[in-house]
Amino acid sequence: MAEIRSIGVVGGGQMGSGIAQLAAVNGFEIWLHDADSTALSNAHESISSRIQSIVSKGHLTKEKGAEALRNLRCTSNLEDFRSVDIVIEAIVESEEVKKKLFVRLDNIVKGSAILASNTSSISITRLASATSRPDQVIGMHFMNPPPVMKLVEIIRGASTSDDTFNATKFLAERLGKKIICSQDFSGFIVNRILMPMINEAFHALYTGVATKEDIDAGMKFGTNHPMGPLELADHIGLDVCLSIMKVLHAGLGDSKYAPCPLLAQYVDAGRLGRKKGIGVYQYSKM
Ligand code: NAI
Repeated sequence: MAEIRSIGVVGGGQMGSGIAQLAAVNGFEIWLHDADSTALSNAHESISSRIQSIVSKGHLTKEKGAEALRNLRCTSNLEDFRSVDIVIEAIVESEEVKKKLFVRLDNIVKGSAILASNTSSISITRLASATSRPDQVIGMHFMNPPPVMKLVEIIRGASTSDDTFNATKFLAERLGKKIICSQDFSGFIVNRILMPMINEAFHALYTGVATKEDIDAGMKFGTNHPMGPLELADHIGLDVCLSIMKVLHAGLGDSKYAPCPLLAQYVDAGRLGRKKGIGVYQYSKM
């Protein structure tokens, strides 16, 4: 099993910037790419300020913080990924867009490199089929925010090799994560269970069962969830939640997975959650 030293992360949004930060702090060399240059510079800025904040709280030495920042290179050129050992893709939750990226990456990265996707729900087998290396394609699903949340869900596509699985598992362990393994079915384990609950919370709001505050308080104080489902949806991003519901609906073929019209309407209105300052709730400051 080849050792992973150098990691390419594609997508500098909520998840990609968190994964890049986590890996840089754990001593890996990171290349971070985003197609949008503003998103890329925002990612660099937010990773730097989060690392400085960890250092100032005494959770990381000054030297380790400086080393983490040296480990991180942001690039607008995907060709810089030539020498990485693994790419972790964290771009928009769209099968078409991800497939196009995987085809491009397949032509750029070295033959031994693994292509991993942080997708929440899209078929790893289909992403893998777009490449010439389906045995080296795998799902590596971090939770939000990646530096904090303990879990990584690993998804084997139909052709994923044992070597690819073991190298990915070893990497997740080196990042300090608890690992669970899922077969490649829509939504995998976590979102298969979580998203229908979030969708149902939108239905409760849509049909006037209760206020958003009472729906969230019910699940927080009644079932011990740290966040209510609507608050959690804002944290994840309503666009991401809608995309996942569409994948569950199409992939599992049951009307119970149809996205709630209110969720779709919020997305149409640009109410995407915390990242936009408004979702189910209004946020004064990001
Ligand atoms: P985001 O919207 O915060 O960031 C996505 C980034 O990808 C943006 O900066 C965008 O400019 C960039 N991008 C889009 N297309 C690109 C392309 N072709 N090439 C390069 N960059 C591109 O999204 P977020 O929330 O970070 O989600 C990313 C992925 O992670 C999705 O697949 C999502 O399902 C998954 N995920 C999201 C979680 C969440 O709680 N938001 C949790 C776990 C997984």
